[in-house]
Amino acid sequence: MTSPLANLQSQIDELLARIASLESLEALRAAEPSLTGKRSVLSSLQKSLGGLAPEERSDAGATLQGARRHVEIALEDRRVELAREERRIRLQADRLDLGDVVVQSVRWPATVGHRGLVPSTQRELEDVFVGMGFTVADGPEVESDWYNFEALNIPPAHPARGMWDTFYVDLGEPETVVLRTHTSPTQIHLMELALAQEALPIHSVMPGRCYRRDTPDARHLATFHQIEGLVVDRDITFADLAGVIETFTRSYFGSDIESRLRPAYFPFTEPSAEFEITCTICRGDGCRTCSQTGWIELGGCGMLDPAVFSAVGLDADEWSGFAFGFGIDRCAQMRYQIGDMRALIENDVRFLGQFS
Ligand code: PHE
Repeated sequence: MTSPLANLQSQIDELLARIASLESLEALRAAEPSLTGKRSVLSSLQKSLGGLAPEERSDAGATLQGARRHVEIALEDRRVELAREERRIRLQADRLDLGDVVVQSVRWPATVGHRGLVPSTQRELEDVFVGMGFTVADGPEVESDWYNFEALNIPPAHPARGMWDTFYVDLGEPETVVLRTHTSPTQIHLMELALAQEALPIHSVMPGRCYRRDTPDARHLATFHQIEGLVVDRDITFADLAGVIETFTRSYFGSDIESRLRPAYFPFTEPSAEFEITCTICRGDGCRTCSQTGWIELGGCGMLDPAVFSAVGLDADEWSGFAFGFGIDRCAQMRYQIGDMRALIENDVRFLGQFS
């Protein structure tokens, strides 16, 4: 009788080939019973050894045991290999590719940046005024109480101080120091300078950052920008002021947007007015943004008060003039119909990218 193990080598080779061809852990688990389990060739060979003579049985048993061991090791190796491969594929799929995220949000490699909306609006406004013959001047953001208030005819404890919620800077000096609440103190610097340098008349605009202790909302920021205008010359009238405002409005906002002046109060101008333009959102029909009035307030203006002339030492009999001041951020909001002004300071690239 031929030994039941006569074909053992080729049977083992076949098992090893099947193990090597297993493509997944799932396939391996499914094949396991037919490779090394009860339904395997190895198990049926084991049973057939029972028919051998006792002296042959122990040798054949040892041979078969060795063969089984061989197959089991090959199976374990394949299991480890497949597990490693499947883990690698899973990690690859789960991997958070930060490069991808950057590509989507800021278009990597980074595109060339551009000027922010407020600085570019400031430049456009400057250009309009330069085109009308104005020069551009600059002033400090940290001011003494005298420049921000007193020289502008707002003495200490004057009720008009309530118009500007002020940030005070404690420098340990006897003088009160504030973050400027408007660009109007730059008027004072400019008049002092022009007087000292005999550089009158003055036709200037002064843009810059201002600060107020306000809670930011859709139409107000605690840090914002104004552009101040100052004309000091001989025989200046209110009509000159209205003409400048109207010319500016049409050149910056377009010929279908009008301006109007409504009586108001500012301590440093007399008479004073509020400067309004046609609401750019509804074009004057009335909407939520303009509270159904069709008009949006941009800033204030008026004829220079003689008290301001005397604060800087200018002769009010010889000189006359007007001033105006309005929000640069508000202009950008109106020009680009930005619902919430806080978007201007949040620096969300999805917002900023719209104004490149
Ligand atoms: N400085 C005033 C404000 O911020 C605006 C203004 C400027 C009014 C110039 C009159 C003249 O409220």
